[in-house]
Amino acid sequence: MTTNNTSRPPLGTRTLGTASPLTVSAMGLGCMGMSEFYGTGDEAEAVATIRRALERGVTLLDTADMYGPFTNENLVGRAVADRRDRVVLATKFGNERAEDGTRLGINGRPEYVHTACDASLRRLGVDHIDLYYQHRVDKTVPIEDTVGAMAELVQAGKVRHLGLSEASAETIRRAHAVHPITALQTEYSLFTRDIEDEILPALRDLGIGLVPYSPLGRGILTGAITAPSDLESSDSRRTAYFPRFQGAALEANLALVTAVRRLARSKNCTPGQLALAWVLAQGDDVVPIPGTKRVRFLEENVAAAAVSLTADELGAIESAVPREAVVGERYGDMSSIDG
Ligand SMILES: NC(=O)c1ccc[n+]([C@@H]2O[C@H](COP(=O)([O-])OP(=O)(O)OC[C@H]3O[C@@H](n4cnc5c(N)ncnc54)[C@H](OP(=O)(O)O)[C@@H]3O)[C@@H](O)[C@H]2O)c1
Repeated sequence: MTTNNTSRPPLGTRTLGTASPLTVSAMGLGCMGMSEFYGTGDEAEAVATIRRALERGVTLLDTADMYGPFTNENLVGRAVADRRDRVVLATKFGNERAEDGTRLGINGRPEYVHTACDASLRRLGVDHIDLYYQHRVDKTVPIEDTVGAMAELVQAGKVRHLGLSEASAETIRRAHAVHPITALQTEYSLFTRDIEDEILPALRDLGIGLVPYSPLGRGILTGAITAPSDLESSDSRRTAYFPRFQGAALEANLALVTAVRRLARSKNCTPGQLALAWVLAQGDDVVPIPGTKRVRFLEENVAAAAVSLTADELGAIESAVPREAVVGERYGDMSSIDG
């Protein structure tokens, strides 16, 4: 399997959630890096990537108001303006930022939920959002109040389905009691498997889908990053905000990627494809959203859906990247994480 895969098997669909089900492509497209965090984006290439994704059967596009800030929603809105009916649009609120990018904190207050939604609808240029997530749980506001306001958005027809991001099992249960939660978006990859202990079982118990973000470990699992110098100087992965990409931690983590590369070679696929195939193999309720701003990477990532792994192969991958072997926290500041 190569990036130029010509057989192009269909991507297929998966359904997120049972009480408020949403059918989407088995893999979505993360649009964040097109506007911020991972180096400089090119608007024309980003739009081409989104449109190529739709041609390849990707329906789920992921953005957030805070990406840019704000410009990523504009970009996604422009890219899909003449093809809105083919897209499942997912965006998020709650990581409040000022126009100049300053982070203002986490805001889950009910009145803010309404304001943020109206602003996202305006920037996206749409009359409804298909999947609206709270980006981070506001520990100063009862989740019932935040989700109550999100439910009002559903009743008003502005939002079709609700999601949470980086919420604990306890928060998810309380939220789901107020209004059905369709999906939890949270970090999940060969490099980040903490949710397997409590959160994933809770999702399955409640009938809530999982949307793994950073399924490529923010790019490291593709093998394309071999040293900090491979990243632009403005790339946020070069900062202490991402400990796994710093110094000795990066070196230890790259040794794990070498093992993934070796296994990928034996499957005749790329390391990134093997990493995505592993996520896809975790269940039909799992819809990863690998992020890219390039058509070439998009093609490669979509083709990962055709890589099927046996139980033995899954075991070999998990032995090559033991959970406890990954060095460094996911974020330099974990204080905004719920639980
Ligand atoms: N809910 C949350 O808190 C949260 C947090 C982070 C991300 N997200 C969402 O999840 C999406 C995906 O996560 P992510 O972007 O952080 O991480 P990711 O998908 O694990 O990795 C993205 C990185 O991998 C690179 N890449 C992608 N495909 C590649 C390929 N085939 N070969 C080589 N490199 C490749 C991208 O490069 P290029 O940029 O050069 O294309 C980018 O640097 C985001 O876009 C965003 O929508 C949500």
